[in-house]
Amino acid sequence: MTSASGILAICPGSFDPLTMGHVDIIERAARLYDRVVVAVLVNREKAPMFSLDERLAIIRETFTGHPNVEADTFEGLLVDYAMARGATVIVKGLRAVADFEYEYQMALMNRHLAPGVDTTFMMPAERYTYISSRLIKEVFALGGSIEGLVPPVVEARLRARRQQALIHPDARPT
Ligand code: PNS
Repeated sequence: MTSASGILAICPGSFDPLTMGHVDIIERAARLYDRVVVAVLVNREKAPMFSLDERLAIIRETFTGHPNVEADTFEGLLVDYAMARGATVIVKGLRAVADFEYEYQMALMNRHLAPGVDTTFMMPAERYTYISSRLIKEVFALGGSIEGLVPPVVEARLRARRQQALIHPDARPT
C-alpha cells in the first residue's frame, strides 16, 4: 500500500542485543522506504540479556538521527502486526547462505498468510556478515571484546554491567 505517507516497512527481530549488522540493514531500509518500524518481538519464553524496555531505548537512541525510523513491540504473528500498522513490506537481513533456507520458508509462509505483505532481503556490509546477537552474548559473557560489533549505546550498557559485576561479584552479568 502506498499512502500519502508512503511505504511503511517493518524490520522485525529480537534485537537482544541490537548489533551493527541490524543497524546496517535498518539504515538501508530507511533509505529505501518512507518509514521504518523496528519491531521487537515480545517473547516471554526467553530470558533476555536486555529487557524489552531497554531494547526499545537502545533502538531509539541509536536511530535518533533517522526521523523515519521508529521502535515498537509486537506479539503474535508478524503479518498481523504488519497489516495492523498498514505496512506492506517486511525487511530481513541475509548474512550468508546459511540464513537463506529458514528466511525463505518464513517469507513464503508470511506471504501465504498475508499476500499483501512482501518480504525484501538485504545484505549487510561484508564486515558485519559474521555478527549475530547470539555470538555477541557469548563473547561478552566470556570476557571478549565486542567493540565495533554493536552500537556504542549497547557497548556502554554492557561495560556498565561488567563494572557492576566487578563491584558486586554476586550480581552475575547476564
Ligand atoms: O531476531 P530473530 O529472533 O531472528 O527474529 C525472528 C522473528 C521475530 C522475525 C520471527 O521469529 C517472527 O516473525 N516471529 C513472529 C511470529 C510469527 O509471525 N511466526 C510465523 C513466521 S512465518
